[in-house]
Amino acid sequence: MNNLKNLRGTFDLLPEKLTKWQNVEEIIKTQLLRASVREIRTPIIEMTELFIRGIGEGTDVVNKEMYTFTDRGNRSCTLRPEGTASVARAIINDGNLQNSQNKFWYMGPMFRYERPQAGRQRQFHQLGVEFIGYESPYSDVSLISLAWDILEKLGISELNLEINSLGDIYDRKSYQISFLKWLEDNIDNLDQDSKARIYKNPLRIMDTKNQETKQLLEKAPKLSDFLSENSLERYSIIKNQLKSMKIPFIENPNLVRGLDYYSHTAFEITSGNLGSQATVCGGGRYDNLIDQMGGPKIPAIGFAIGLERLILLAGKQFDKGRETDIYIVNKGAQAQSLALELSRKLRHYDVITEIDLSDASFSKQLKKANKCNAKSIIVIGDEEANKREFSIRSFNSNHENKNQLTISIEENVKLEKWICNNLASNTSL
Ligand code: HAM
Repeated sequence: MNNLKNLRGTFDLLPEKLTKWQNVEEIIKTQLLRASVREIRTPIIEMTELFIRGIGEGTDVVNKEMYTFTDRGNRSCTLRPEGTASVARAIINDGNLQNSQNKFWYMGPMFRYERPQAGRQRQFHQLGVEFIGYESPYSDVSLISLAWDILEKLGISELNLEINSLGDIYDRKSYQISFLKWLEDNIDNLDQDSKARIYKNPLRIMDTKNQETKQLLEKAPKLSDFLSENSLERYSIIKNQLKSMKIPFIENPNLVRGLDYYSHTAFEITSGNLGSQATVCGGGRYDNLIDQMGGPKIPAIGFAIGLERLILLAGKQFDKGRETDIYIVNKGAQAQSLALELSRKLRHYDVITEIDLSDASFSKQLKKANKCNAKSIIVIGDEEANKREFSIRSFNSNHENKNQLTISIEENVKLEKWICNNLASNTSL
């Protein structure tokens, strides 16, 4: 069994690291509950067809990054690279969801076969939020402000919100004709990556990282010049509303996003503290996705936050979890049996209990209690076990024995009173 390592780009999250994840997730869930966003859970594995039709054949995600395999029933399956296509499928499959407005969130692992580096993994986690059935430009701002506020609630500063309007299908079609013509005229001066994209996904050339191509593109036709009056009006309402809600943003006319389903609003939130993989949140409107996938025409908008990147940004104040309230020290078979009975009883109360089952010396057990920062200890020796009682005391008390008590295992009220007086709940996060 030697050499059995994690697959490249995948990681174990051990309990010490997970405390921060859990604290951060708790805050996110509270914000989502307050905004009436409900959880949805879709399968991690889907038919490959779903992502080809949903995300688009010309995208890097579908072309190069999917974990696709044939199952034993000879079906092509894919581990989800993102969550939006699955939510769209769930809407199509459930007629009841089609006639109402729904706000959903999901959290979980996604899979993309990318080159791993800091902030980029092959298995990573997303919080996704999708507002389905929402058309008003104000719903765009409602969604963007939710993403912004979640990040702010987590104390993350130095955030940049970039927005763009991609217009509707017709705006984009007429732009694409003119842009394609310009690209063909300038093909000799494009970098290799952009050349390869010309007929697959020309719009993505707009957000190239290649400096020379970037410079060249300054002379290319602009998508903003092809937006209809309606699209411009919509975009302008969004910008004004963001301003009036004091959410700072930058307009980035080259922001096109890597998935094909977007129309009108596209946005990303980046942080200067993340290095080269700076985008912590990306999203946009996808009014045509559900009908393109065979469902009714339902407008929608959503975003996803990369949780690994979010955890990197969230401060140290989220590192700490709840610590042990009561550590049960015991020695000998009879004492161990009573300790077990007691630890079970203690699960009725909101206290965190650790029972020592090492049968080591009392002093060793006390050291362990100290090491895990236990707030109090219960000691059960032979004598106590014989009488079916135990002594409990606050570990850090300066007043020697002041709050030490001997309690019989049957005396529930006495135990409860001691817990109330000595162990104030520490669920303050
Ligand atoms: P996306 O931009 O592909 O959008 O991903 C959203 C976020 O997931 C990124 O901004 C990043 O933080 C994180 N992310 C993506 N790939 C990786 C990776 N390989 N390693 C670590 N983090 C990563 C979507 O997935 C859309 N479904 C968002 C959306 C929802 N649009 C509408 N609704």
